[in-house]
This record gives sequence, structure tokens and C-alpha cells, in this order.
Amino acid sequence: MSNFVNQVAFITGAGSGIGRATALAFAKAGAQVIVADINETNGHETVQLIRETGVDALFITCNVADPAQIEAAIQQTVKVYGRLDIGINNAGIGGRFARLLDQTSDDFNQIMAVNVGGVFYGMQAQIRQMLNQPENDHSDRGKIVNVSSIAGVRGMAMGAPYSASKHAVIGLTKTAALEYAKKNIRINAVCPVYTHSALVDELILAAPIMEERMRRVIPIGRLGKPEEIAQAILWLCAEENALYTGQALQMDGGLTAG
Ligand SMILES: NC(=O)c1ccc[n+]([C@@H]2O[C@H](COP(=O)([O-])OP(=O)(O)OC[C@H]3O[C@@H](n4cnc5c(N)ncnc54)[C@H](O)[C@@H]3O)[C@@H](O)[C@H]2O)c1
Repeated sequence: MSNFVNQVAFITGAGSGIGRATALAFAKAGAQVIVADINETNGHETVQLIRETGVDALFITCNVADPAQIEAAIQQTVKVYGRLDIGINNAGIGGRFARLLDQTSDDFNQIMAVNVGGVFYGMQAQIRQMLNQPENDHSDRGKIVNVSSIAGVRGMAMGAPYSASKHAVIGLTKTAALEYAKKNIRINAVCPVYTHSALVDELILAAPIMEERMRRVIPIGRLGKPEEIAQAILWLCAEENALYTGQALQMDGGLTAG
């Protein structure tokens, strides 16, 4: 795996789960990491975990549903570190578990604002900055990875707004990848299967039967680990994998093979 020394990585939703594991993995690989999250306590905790490994990191409070906050967070990143090499748009919410007819317009709008708005505004602010900076030694201006879901490539009963939002993330990823390929900005998505994190563990706590149900549908017989998703995100950003852009990498333990 290539290292990310001298690269600046901005990660949303890095206060928990997949985002935190990604922040720790980039820090371990030598990147300057910016932890962006709406939850200040958890965000600071991630920074503390990174510092315990002997490197520094920066926390920025940021609600990804608000374009002004994302823009300000990217500007602060550049003010502190001088450039932005990597943008990971990971912040997301699961929403309510209910059939389509029981989902309200508030349920729908909230999920869209965070899961789709966060990726849309995140990419706008990141690409704007990447276009403004010179290419690095590896002839790239930047890499972006958006976190979709296996629910972005198939339906998810009881989660219509969530599934719709994650399909939208893939549409945004592919379109932006086409538009900025010639500018040497690579843009990909990851589509994780059920993965142990606050989002899924809360669901399991509320209805323990869910874990067994999740396991049963995943051919490898277990849920994903945040660290596994983090490694795929780093892999997509690695210099060796410069041929990859516009992809939605399914990490699903075989779920979509059948
Ligand atoms: N855990 C899974 O099974 C799974 C599977 C597929 C995709 N995903 C996706 O992975 C991403 C990370 O989720 P996770 O499982 O690590 O969940 P998580 O709840 O552990 O982490 C999500 C983080 O996003 C932050 N966040 C939420 N709303 C925000 C906002 N408006 N602005 C900024 N930060 C905000 C939270 O504070 C939290 O730190 C999400 O996009 C989720 O949809 C998760």
C-alpha cells in the first residue's frame, strides 16, 4: 500500500465508525488528517486517538448538510495545511426503519440533506480547491471517495429514503468522475455491506434479532468491520490505482454475487 506522506486528507463523519477508522488509517499511512463531524465530542476523541499514535490531527465542526459550513471547513483546511489532496465524504445517517407509506416528508428531507447534500456540497468545495492547486509529484490534483452503501445498488426494504440517497451518491460520483477526469481528479465510491458501527450497532441494540438476519444474508456469514472499509478507501486513493475513477466498489461479503 502506498503511503500518503505530505498529503492532506479531509474526512467527514470521522467522529465514529467507518469515518474514524479511515481517519486513523490515513494518519498511520502518513497523511495530515482533518476530522470533520457535527459531533464535537466524538470528533475530538478521534483526534485524541490519532495523537496517541504520535501524529497530530485537526478537528473541524461541520454539518455537511450546510454548504457554507463545508466550504468554511475546506478553507480552514487549506489555511492550516496549504492544500487538499483527499476528500472523503462519509458522513451519513440511517433514518427511520419504516415502509414507504410510513416515511414522512421530514424523514425523506433529512436523509437527502445529509446523505446526498453532504456529498454534493462536499465535492463542490473539494473540487473547487483541487482545481485551484498545482498537481502533486504524482501528477494528480486530488482524490475523492464518497461513501455509498450496498443499499445504493439494490433496494432496502424499510429504508426507501436511505436507499434512494445512496443510489444518488453513486450518480453524483460517476458524473463528477467524468467531468473532472481530465483535470486529474479521481472520484470513486465505496458500497459497504452492514458494518459494525454506531449506525448499525444501535439498530442491533434496539432489535437484537437484526444481527442474525444481517449475518444470514451475507454469504461470508459476518458483518463488515470499519477497518476493512477504511482499507478500501485508502486503496482507491493510492497512487498505484490511478486507473480507477467513477467506480462504485462493492464490499459486501458476496451479497450481490447471487
Ligand atoms: N455501518 C454500515 O453498515 C454502513 C453500511 C453502508 C454504508 N454506510 C455508510 O457509511 C457512512 C458512515 O457510517 P457509519 O456506519 O460509520 O455510522 P456512524 O453513525 O458510526 O458514523 C457517522 C458519523 O457521521 C456523523 N454525522 C452525521 N450527520 C452529520 C452531519 N450532518 N454532518 C457531519 N457529520 C455528520 C456522525 O456524527 C458520525 O460521527 C454513512 O454514510 C453510512 O450511510 C454504513
